[in-house]
Amino acid sequence: MTARIVPILPETIAIAAEILSEGGLVAMPTETVYGLAADAANPTAVARIYEAKGRPRFNPLIAHVSSWAMAEQQAKFSGLARTLGEAFWPGPLTMVLPAHPESRVSDLARAGLDTIALRWPKHYAAAALIEAFGGPLVAPSANRSGHVSPTRAEHVAADLGDRIDLILDGGPCAVGLESTIIGFEGGEPVLLRPGGLETSTISAKLGRSLRARSPTDAINAPGQLKSHYAPRARLRLDVTEPAEGEGYICFGPGQSGGLNLSPTGDLVEAATNLFSMLRALDESYASIAVGPVPDEGLGEAINDRLRRAAVRDPE
Ligand code: TXA
Ligand code: MG
Repeated sequence: MTARIVPILPETIAIAAEILSEGGLVAMPTETVYGLAADAANPTAVARIYEAKGRPRFNPLIAHVSSWAMAEQQAKFSGLARTLGEAFWPGPLTMVLPAHPESRVSDLARAGLDTIALRWPKHYAAAALIEAFGGPLVAPSANRSGHVSPTRAEHVAADLGDRIDLILDGGPCAVGLESTIIGFEGGEPVLLRPGGLETSTISAKLGRSLRARSPTDAINAPGQLKSHYAPRARLRLDVTEPAEGEGYICFGPGQSGGLNLSPTGDLVEAATNLFSMLRALDESYASIAVGPVPDEGLGEAINDRLRRAAVRDPE
């Protein structure tokens, strides 16, 4: 079945919001590129995004909001973050901020991180959809992994039409490049991804130049942004026999002795449970063993994240 392409009307926005609240996927125009939107709070819907895109990795996703009230429910804003938001939102700026303890954005959408990427898009259709839905929407670019980002509804249809529920056609995107992503390290803004908002414009607002993230930042020092989920506990992978006193996460039918990512062997369900199960065991075990997960479909992304989480960051 191919997703319907519909014009932006009050009725089609209402239908799209309904699809989202049932866990479906809707392609929406933004001023940068078309996004593949899902309910940020619903991990199953988020897992479907990765499945539809055929992403071999669970990158953390950007949560899109449509008001300051919604933004402040998701993240904690420093004075500097607020200044940038007030200057450039709505618009092609994404800020990575500490997640609010009551954020609705699921662990899977954040790839297990304690931070959250927020953006308030400047496109009437995106704003109307977020408003009608009533909560943050995650939306990576609406293309298959490895393909270029779509700037027209027809691009989305050609790439993902058979994998999603609806395409809202808002015409060509004005910016055509993804948003600029800014993070904060030790309170200082750093450029994480150049994009549609020029770095010089941000620097001018800040009254100083914006530091790009240097390769040495990959080594986690206090106050620096982590790029992937890292548990406190030691993680052992592909374990079929956990040791005494070790936490255990397994996958598939007939597996027991710990938490099962999906007793029926469903990789979408496993993706949904991955980060929350790791976090749960990380609270009470010094070592966590994980059983084998097939390296197919979403299993590839699950294994990628597990391998990254298993590498201990320098203390
Ligand atoms: O223009 C855009 O930003 C488009 C449109 C659709 O809004 N969206 C987009 O979203 O590009 P997405 O989800 O593909 O961007 C995700 C990028 C990741 O590659 C990651 O680098 C960064 O955002 N990101 C998200 N959460 C992060 C976090 N907590 N820490 C660091 N980087 C994060
Ligand atoms: Mg993309």
